[in-house]
Amino acid sequence: MRPTDPVRAEQGVVVSAQELASRVGRDILQQGGNAIDAAIATGFALAVVYPWAGNIGGGGFMVVRLPDGRATTFDFREKAPLAARPELFLDGAGEYSSKRHHDSYLSVGVPGTVAGFALAHERYGRLSWRALVEPAVRLAAEGFALTPSLARSFERILSDMAPYPASVAAFSRGGRPYRAGETWQQPDLARSLERIRDQGREGFYGGETARLLAAEMRRGGGLITEQDLARYQARERVPVRGSYRGWEIISMPPPSSGGVALIEALNILEGYDLKGMGAYSAPYVHHVTEAMRRAFLDRARYLADPDFAPVPVERLTSKSYAASLRAGLDPERASASAPADATLPAESEHTTHYSVVDAEGMAVSVTYTLEAGFGSKIVVTGAGFLLNNEMGDFNGKPGLTTATGLIGTSPNLARPEQRMLSSMTPTILARNGELVAVLGSPGGRTIINTVLVTVLDIIDGGMGIQQAVNAPRFHHQWLPDTLRIEEAGVTPEVAAALRAMGHQLTIRGRQGSVQAIMIEPGTRVRLGAPDLRDADAAAAGY
Ligand code: DON
Repeated sequence: MRPTDPVRAEQGVVVSAQELASRVGRDILQQGGNAIDAAIATGFALAVVYPWAGNIGGGGFMVVRLPDGRATTFDFREKAPLAARPELFLDGAGEYSSKRHHDSYLSVGVPGTVAGFALAHERYGRLSWRALVEPAVRLAAEGFALTPSLARSFERILSDMAPYPASVAAFSRGGRPYRAGETWQQPDLARSLERIRDQGREGFYGGETARLLAAEMRRGGGLITEQDLARYQARERVPVRGSYRGWEIISMPPPSSGGVALIEALNILEGYDLKGMGAYSAPYVHHVTEAMRRAFLDRARYLADPDFAPVPVERLTSKSYAASLRAGLDPERASASAPADATLPAESEHTTHYSVVDAEGMAVSVTYTLEAGFGSKIVVTGAGFLLNNEMGDFNGKPGLTTATGLIGTSPNLARPEQRMLSSMTPTILARNGELVAVLGSPGGRTIINTVLVTVLDIIDGGMGIQQAVNAPRFHHQWLPDTLRIEEAGVTPEVAAALRAMGHQLTIRGRQGSVQAIMIEPGTRVRLGAPDLRDADAAAAGY
C-alpha cells in the first residue's frame, strides 16, 4: 500500500476512487457549490473516468447530514422492470440459471442514478444543474489519459465484452486494448451527458436516451421499456439511526440492508468491552464475527424493498433486541449457521464509494454501483454508457435456499417495480451534535462488515482516519459459515485460537475500499483519507 497521510483541507474535501473525479468535486466546492452539488458532479465524473463502477446506467444511495444536524437519504436503487416476475431467472426446465440472473439482458435493472442526482439537486442543490454535469461532458468529449490501473481493467474485461459490439467499441481501439497514458474519449457518452445536462432527468428517462436504451433491450431480449424508464422515481427516505458508545450512526435504510445490519451488529457489540479485549485479538475477532453472523441471518430473513415487504427496522435496530441476541452468544465458541435459510455468492469490489464535506459542514456519503465490475458489460448502442446487472441482487429462485450460494426467501424476489436488496452502507458519524466522519465501501455483502470494522477501529480503537482506513478487515456473512480476514489482520497465534473456537477461517487478499473523511477534533480541519488498496483513489481539498 502507498504510505500516506490524509489530505488536510480547511474548507472542503472530496475523496473518491479516481483522482480526476475528486478534483471535479473539489472545483465545484470552490465555485460555491455545497456538498450535494459536489457529490452530484463527482458522481457524473466517475461515470466517465471510473466505468468499473461509476455510472449513469446503475443506481445507489446517498446519505446527507446538513450543517444543522438534520439528515436525509436518497434512494436511487434500480427497480425491476414491469415485466419482471419471481421466476425470471429460471431456465426452460425450471432450473435456476446463474447466467440469466447475473450475466444477461435480464440482469439489467431500471437505472436510478440520474433520477437520484436530479432529486437531490432539486431538494438541496445550490449551483445550476448544468454546472454539475458539464465537467463530465468535457471529460467524456475531450478524453483523458488512462491510468495503468484503468488500462489494465479494460484489457481484462475485453473478452467478456466480446458479445456486445458497442462495448468493444467503447473500451478498446477496434478490439486492441488501450495502453496506459493513451487518451480515452467517449463521444457517445458525451452526447448522452449533454442531453442530461440540457434536459435534466428527462434527458435520460425520455427522448433519445430512453429510445436507445429500450432499443438495446429489444435487441438483446431484455425487459426494460420506455414506459419503465418514464415511471422510474428516486425516493427521499428517512435515514436509519443508531448509537454506539455515545456516537451517532446515520446510515441507509432499506432497500439497502446496510444501515440496519450495521446498527444491529454495533448494538450487539456495545455490550462487550472490545477495547479491553484488544483490537484484532482472538476474543475481539470472535465477538465481532458473532455479531456479523447474527446481523446477516436477519438480513436474509427480513430485509427487502420496504415498498413491497414489511421490514421490522425498529425492532432489528433496537437495543433490547441486541440484548436478546447477546444472550445466545458464547464468548468462547463459534455458533452454528444453519443452512436452512441462506448462503451467498462470492463478492468483489465492483461498486464505489465517495465522501464529501463542504466548508459549512454539510456531509454527503454516496455509494453507487453497476453491481459487477462494468455491470452487465453491455454498453447501450449509440448512448455510450454501461448497463448494470443489479437484478442479480434479487433472490434467484423462490424457495431455493442452498448451503452453497442461494437465498430463496420471499421478501426479496423480483416483482414488477420492486427494488432489489442491497448491502451498500453509506454512513455518517456524529458526536455531541457535531459531524465526525463520512465513510462507506464497495464489496457486495462485505460492505456492511467493512464499514462495521472501520467504525470499531475509529471508536474502540481510537484510530485516526487514515489508520482506520488502512487497518485490516474481516467478514462473516452467516452463510457460508466462513470467517474471511485480510492477511495483515491475523497472526498465526490468533488464527489458531479462532480455529480452536470453531471458526472456519480463510485468509483473503483484500476487502473493500473505504474513501473516508474525518473532522479533526479541535481544528475542524477536514481529513480526506483515500483507501490505498485502490491504485487511483485520492482526496482533493482546499
Ligand atoms: O447493492 C449491492 O449490495 C451490490 N450490488 C453491490 C455490488 C458490489 O459491491 C460489488 N460486488 N459484487
